[in-house]
Order: sequence, then structure tokens, then C-alpha cells
Amino acid sequence: MSNSKEKTRILFVCLGNICRSPSAEAIFKAIAEKAKIPVKVDSAGTSAWHEGEMADNRMRRSAAARGYKLTSISRALRRKDFDEFDMIIAMDDKNYHDIKDLAQSAEEEEKVFRMRDFFVHKQYDHIPDPYYGGEQGFNMVIDLLEDASEGLVAYLKKTKPS
Ligand code: 4NP
Repeated sequence: MSNSKEKTRILFVCLGNICRSPSAEAIFKAIAEKAKIPVKVDSAGTSAWHEGEMADNRMRRSAAARGYKLTSISRALRRKDFDEFDMIIAMDDKNYHDIKDLAQSAEEEEKVFRMRDFFVHKQYDHIPDPYYGGEQGFNMVIDLLEDASEGLVAYLKKTKPS
């Protein structure tokens, strides 16, 4: 993260990589582009349960209603993600600890964050898993991710001033 013109590479991670993290990827990308912050984004799951699948239908529908197209295909987090990304951002505490367990150095551990670290107005302590709930849960995921994405953009502006 040395040069302000270089893309900051950010990986969003949840459990299945079909609800929260693909949404984080699309929402943050849209908000960063609007703010003209150069980023490369991707997402992954701590599990490989949904490897190769598109995002959950319900999540895609809620995201589309808010103007976000979810295109990513589920994949599992892998060791080389620590080399290929500057920040790895977990949706909840379980994800956070599972990612930290894979880190092999202090430098790798320092790349791991929680999405809640970047909330501006919201006061949740994590991004709740919407998988077993109703439509309201999917909409709340979007609300929380929009707020945290604004905070993440502000963080990048502060840490990578142009
Ligand atoms: P995500 O949601 O971690 O936000 O993608 C889930 C997706 C699938 C499952 C759990 C959570 N599952 O149990 O299959």
C-alpha cells in the first residue's frame, strides 16, 4: 500500500461466499469507483461448500433492487490470498478467527480486518449471516455493507493520501 496510485487489493471473506462477501465486493467496488479510489476487489469463503456457485438468488435479488449486480463465483479462501491482497476483511468474528488461523506471520495477520471496523453510522458488531432468514436480513446486509464501504473508502483516503 505504498503508492497512492497503486490499486489497493482487498479481499472480502464470509463463510459461504454466496451472500455477504460477494455483496461486499460489489458494493464496495461501486462506492470506491464513485470516490475514484483505485482498488482491486475479490471475495472468498472460509468454507468451500458453495465452490463454483453464483451468489444466492435471494441475495442477488435484494442487491439488484438496490442497483448492485453480483457476478462473482464462490471460491474458498486460499493461502496465496495473503500474498495477493493488501487487506482481507471478515464479515463476522468466526470468519475473522478462521482467517487469522491461516496467517503465517505477523505481517499476514496485520492484513486481516473486520468489516465492522469501518462502520460510520451503524452500530452492529458484525455483518449478520442472512442465509437462514428472510428478505429483511438480506436488505440489512446491504445497509450495513454500504455504511462500512463508506468508512473503508475514508480509511483508504486517510492511509493513502494522493
Ligand atoms: P455467507 O452465508 O457466509 O454470507 O455466504 C452463508 C451461506 C451458506 C451457508 C451459511 C451462510 N450454509 O450453511 O451453506
